[in-house]
Amino acid sequence: MVVGVAGGIAAYKAAELVRLLDKAGATVDVAMTPRAQHFITAMTFQALTRRPVFTDLFSLTDEEKIGHIQLADAADLVVIAPATADLCARLAAGMADDAVTSIALATRAPVLLAPSMNVNMWNHVLTQRNLTTLRDVAKYQIVAPGEGFLACGWTGPGRLAEPAEIVEAAAHVLSAQDLAGVKVVVTAGPTYEAIDPVRFVGNRSSGKMGAAIAAAAQRRGAEVRLIFGPSGVAPPVGVETSHVESAAQLSWALNNAVKDADVVVMTAAVADFRPAKVADQKLKRGAQQTMTIELVANPDLLAGLGKARKGKRPFLVGFAAETNEVIANAKAKLVTKGCDLVVANDVAEVGAGFAVDTNHVQLVDANGVTDVPSASKAEVAHRILDKIVEMRTKPAITPKPKKR
Ligand code: CTP
Repeated sequence: MVVGVAGGIAAYKAAELVRLLDKAGATVDVAMTPRAQHFITAMTFQALTRRPVFTDLFSLTDEEKIGHIQLADAADLVVIAPATADLCARLAAGMADDAVTSIALATRAPVLLAPSMNVNMWNHVLTQRNLTTLRDVAKYQIVAPGEGFLACGWTGPGRLAEPAEIVEAAAHVLSAQDLAGVKVVVTAGPTYEAIDPVRFVGNRSSGKMGAAIAAAAQRRGAEVRLIFGPSGVAPPVGVETSHVESAAQLSWALNNAVKDADVVVMTAAVADFRPAKVADQKLKRGAQQTMTIELVANPDLLAGLGKARKGKRPFLVGFAAETNEVIANAKAKLVTKGCDLVVANDVAEVGAGFAVDTNHVQLVDANGVTDVPSASKAEVAHRILDKIVEMRTKPAITPKPKKR
């Protein structure tokens, strides 16, 4: 494969990416833009790959055999990390004026972009337009940048995805598109149930697990629709997302989305109760020392889908966030909610559940329990999808042999 490195501060992370790809057994050829060489040297990549690094489109030695076309033809995948705003713009315009853009334009292999830039460049309408073109027209896959403190001093989205996440995305682009054409609806995040115009009843769900499932399913070829409760997490680039706030809004969006869905993954932590009345005006504290808010039950959306479906479509996946009796509770939910698979996690466990980047889950279906060891939410998302793919191709319960 080819790793293309553009000129941004995150270029130093490309060294770790190349090291991980090499360690995973990939043959990696590195191509660099002239600007990338201001941040990291070709020598670093040559040492890591033990192969020549392609830096100069006009090199008399590299181009003796038209090196960039040879690399473009031989590649099974082109990964561009970091992809700067400038590089995305040049790629979207179909330009081929350096080693990286010329390989990207000449290759017939899939291209995976890992953008990294200043948050305002990332949010700029032109950058977003370029990324839309690259995704929708050129069919490039995009590993969304992470959020956090950026080298430029700003905070927000723009930080290059972790090298391990890019490796994982590369592995999945290379693997079979086993969800190609499958319509997957994912709900994620918490719901907020209004008390008055400024207050609400909510929960600690961050939406990270659901966003990871939506991103992973999209990477595996699914047509994904994400219904996202209020979350600080950015929805995956390119996934059609409906933002909702309350369980009622989620229910409405879900009912619309589910009509032609093949798979529904209910990661959302839907509030079980909502205030019976929503005050029009902000409630005043006054002199009262206690306050009682009457709550009424929200419908169980997953159970509703389980009851309403005819046959096994859509395939229903529920989540069970538990603090005790994890498997017993998950098995009960499998039956009461009429779903095919329950992803159970012990939210009391360190490194699992809400807000963290890792998770440890158990997959409970009618045939038993599969443990998914603790891993990044992106990795866990793929294991959950593996199980969904396996179960959709095999009946859930192995039929007993008929007596003669
Ligand atoms: N769920 C739902 N509608 C609700 C509550 C939950 O569709 N009103 C879904 C969630 O999206 C999740 C699954 O049901 O996939 C289990 O949610 P969880 O909160 O663990 O279970 P509850 O049914 O609320 O049961 P309990 O709170 O008693 O554990």
